[in-house]
Amino acid sequence: MKQRILFVCLGNICRSPAAEAMLKMLLERNGISENIFVDSAGTYGGHSGERSDPRMRSAAAARGIEMTHRARQVREADFEKFDMVIAMDDNNYEALFRLAPDRAAQQKIFRFREFLRHNPDWSYIPDPYYEGHEGFELVLDLLEDGCATLVESLQQE
Ligand code: 4NP
Repeated sequence: MKQRILFVCLGNICRSPAAEAMLKMLLERNGISENIFVDSAGTYGGHSGERSDPRMRSAAAARGIEMTHRARQVREADFEKFDMVIAMDDNNYEALFRLAPDRAAQQKIFRFREFLRHNPDWSYIPDPYYEGHEGFELVLDLLEDGCATLVESLQQE
């Protein structure tokens, strides 16, 4: 598996920055953070420059994960910079597919669900923005599952 990973959701204030922070934490815990660059972005730019949603930040903090990301919109140049671009849901995936400049770029796009091992009922990471606290906890549960798979793959490099 490759070494520069970009997580993408809609607003880049809930799911993808949480995935970014969680993967970074797990890479550090496993001593393999040096050569792996992790970032996140949104298909929608309306929250650009903002810190992550305070509900997501506090749910993550309760699991020992600090979120410091500032939101930004995904751009075509990201397909040059990153090896894997991982979409949280099918809408994100389709938006990325449209943005990708060529076939090589399209082949860098993955769905986060491809890395889920313990949650076979979930085919996407559900948008928690209009949900209650449980929605944020569910996002973190799913991210823990998929990020653990990613770490194992990266450890085998
Ligand atoms: P995210 O959540 O895509 O996980 O960052 C959302 C954030 C903002 C909005 C929707 C989803 N919004 O409509 O502004």
